[in-house]
Amino acid sequence: MPGRLSGSTAVVTGASGGLGAHFARILAREGAAVAVTARRVAMVEALAAEIREAGGRALALPLDVADADAVGPALDRVIAELGGLDILINNAGVGGEGLALDVPIEEFDRAFAVNVRGTFVCAREAAKRMIASGTEGRIVNIASIASHTVLPGLSAYCGSKAAVAMLTKSLAREWARKGIAVNALAPGYIETDINATWWPTEGGQRQLKLFPRRRLMDADDLDDAFLLLAGPSAKRITGSLITVDDGQSLPGGG
Ligand SMILES: NC(=O)c1ccc[n+]([C@@H]2O[C@H](COP(=O)([O-])OP(=O)(O)OC[C@H]3O[C@@H](n4cnc5c(N)ncnc54)[C@H](OP(=O)(O)O)[C@@H]3O)[C@@H](O)[C@H]2O)c1
Repeated sequence: MPGRLSGSTAVVTGASGGLGAHFARILAREGAAVAVTARRVAMVEALAAEIREAGGRALALPLDVADADAVGPALDRVIAELGGLDILINNAGVGGEGLALDVPIEEFDRAFAVNVRGTFVCAREAAKRMIASGTEGRIVNIASIASHTVLPGLSAYCGSKAAVAMLTKSLAREWARKGIAVNALAPGYIETDINATWWPTEGGQRQLKLFPRRRLMDADDLDDAFLLLAGPSAKRITGSLITVDDGQSLPGGG
């Protein structure tokens, strides 16, 4: 499949559904070989089969990003089976819902284990391999408007996504002369499994009416910014967080 990313190999974490599956399809459409990873193996296998049927190259792998010891071996399999590692999409994420006074501490820990520690470990293991191969690496961390905006009832999630934003800058600085661009994409709300039960509720409907454009976004609203960060155009972009949110994080409701 010819495209902007022909000859590149990408890994997407949390690709069993939602935005991760969408990002994997875009990467494949642009010609990258794509390793799709998640805990739900049947779903990434189905996605890899779909990409191959469309003429792309894809590999499905089980990967729990909270299992730090599993990340390096998974990336080694990608390199062995797809021939390299140029792009990492750190997409795996969990919601960490609950008011601060009530949220179970296990839920808080899970948000940080997956969203922050998982992002860090995957970035570090990918960077080691990108540096060893001398590729112009691209790491795209999927942050959120929660990286810079208070979202109601989501303090654990907001804290974790703010950490993702700062990790992005710190890693970009450390690896600036090692040929790796590290950036973050901060989407606004898009309906996926992470939030689907919220929107039909009274609170969800109230929140929707406070967005300046009174609507959720679609996954493909992210495509141009995503490809900017994942591809060759990020040559001079590192340590940046690009917000694509349809104005949802603008202050002032009503
Ligand atoms: N939807 C939005 O409005 C929105 C907005 C801004 C940012 N985001 C971010 O976008 C990313 C994707 O979210 P989504 O909306 O697509 O939600 P989703 O449909 O719930 O998908 C979350 C993905 O993360 C994976 N995941 C969860 N825990 C994991 C773990 N321990 N190891 C590996 N994978 C894990 C899940 O796969 P398995 O369960 O199969 O492992 C799933 O594929 C998240 O980082 C989220 O914070 C979403």
